Amino acid sequence: MAKIRIQFVCQNCGGSHSKWSGRCDACGEWNTLAEETPSTGVASGPGKATKAGRVIAMEDLDGDATEAPRINSTISEFDRVAGGGLVQGSALLVGGDPGIGKSTLLMQVSASLAANGYGVVYVSGEEAVAQVRLRAQRLGAANAPVKLVAETNVENIVTTLEAGKPPALVVVDSIQTLWTETTDSAPGTVSQVRNSAQAMIRYAKQSGAAIVLVGHVTKDGQIAGPRVVEHMVDAVLYFEGEGGHHFRILRSVKNRFGATDEIGVFEMSDKGLREVANPSELFLGERHKAAPGAAVFAGMEGRRPVLVEIQALVAQSSLGTPRRAVVGWDSSRLAMILAVLEAHCGVRLGGHDVYLNVAGGFRISEPAADLAVAAALVSSLVNKPLAENSVYFGEVSLSGHLRPVSQAAGRLKEAGKLGFEQATYAKGSEVVKQLGLKLNTITTLADLVVELAAGASESLQGDPDTGT
Ligand code: TYD
Ligand code: MG
Repeated sequence: MAKIRIQFVCQNCGGSHSKWSGRCDACGEWNTLAEETPSTGVASGPGKATKAGRVIAMEDLDGDATEAPRINSTISEFDRVAGGGLVQGSALLVGGDPGIGKSTLLMQVSASLAANGYGVVYVSGEEAVAQVRLRAQRLGAANAPVKLVAETNVENIVTTLEAGKPPALVVVDSIQTLWTETTDSAPGTVSQVRNSAQAMIRYAKQSGAAIVLVGHVTKDGQIAGPRVVEHMVDAVLYFEGEGGHHFRILRSVKNRFGATDEIGVFEMSDKGLREVANPSELFLGERHKAAPGAAVFAGMEGRRPVLVEIQALVAQSSLGTPRRAVVGWDSSRLAMILAVLEAHCGVRLGGHDVYLNVAGGFRISEPAADLAVAAALVSSLVNKPLAENSVYFGEVSLSGHLRPVSQAAGRLKEAGKLGFEQATYAKGSEVVKQLGLKLNTITTLADLVVELAAGASESLQGDPDTGT
């Protein structure tokens, strides 16, 4: 009898090792190796071929190419992120933290498609049929003709699907709960997730049904799965949101049939997810006008303009090492802006605590926010509000100069649409003249500081008592 080989597979990256160790050599994560028995199925790796291959006809590159047929859910925020609707025969992964609203979103999409006459099967591996029904009732979708299956065995699921007329959409919630008989490991381990996903994707390609796999991702990467599925599927969407806030963003990170810089914005309500067509209104909603330390940043999320308020509080520190706390932005980027303000603009912040917050729980990753952050910091330091109807954008370089940013025209257009009257941005950004918007271009950060400090009651040097 052949000896059963045991391997240790990293639940984070999928790398396999012959011995257990505390740390995965491949990705450097700790405590991620789990014992798995390699499967003996097709996916078990290279072996000796038992059958000779056949010759496949080659094709020319310039042949006929048809647009993949799509099905539209009429939830336009979802359809847009998916690249204009779900593609038939394709596989889509929707990842996100547990509890963020993945099941809710997909139930709404399923119900909407089913109500429009498409066949939809919702496979729930996590919840019993009654629970799924309860959610559907809460969403007001209980009478949509969605077919429910509570099952976790892949062979049973595929056989059930093949027995009937192929549906237009199959939702599998979630991929971590599935298990296939071809693999010996426990559900949720890398090899189970990979082989189950493979079987479901194979079904999608054969039947022409669009398949959506739901995957939980934890921040510390402890739960296996979605990462190894990412390269197998046609599109990967992430559903994210900040704890305690109601808005959710659906972001596309890979899409073989569309653009990846799209986002969809939703708000979680007591009746499910509501589409937010104008995200800026959501993030500017609670704005207190004319407070020192608040600046409006004209940002872009993918191709969509999003205006958000950046709030700064600069206060005398009683600590030896002043505090720097950031929510919604990169803390090393803040350290850089503080250094540039000190070195090139004569703004002394060494004796001050600095707190920075992006309103509404939004997260900004663009360097274009530099200028708005600097404006908020200086405004708080000199205790003078910024011009109420003004937006800011521009990247700050280490020399204190401002660099133009992309899509300036789109940012200005959004600002104009929302009633802003002034925009301050880096000189050289490509813009088209906006009606009713006063454009203020600057070349260095020092220009902005001089402008903001003029007529302010407090000085840029901090409190003279502390000697800073
Ligand atoms: P769920 O879709 O179950 O999350 P996931 O599948 O990503 O784990 O949604 C979980 C949260 O959403 C839960 O805390 C309750 C909340 N929720 C609402 O606020 N309103 C609703 O209408 C629904 C269905 C859920
Ligand atoms: Mg769920």
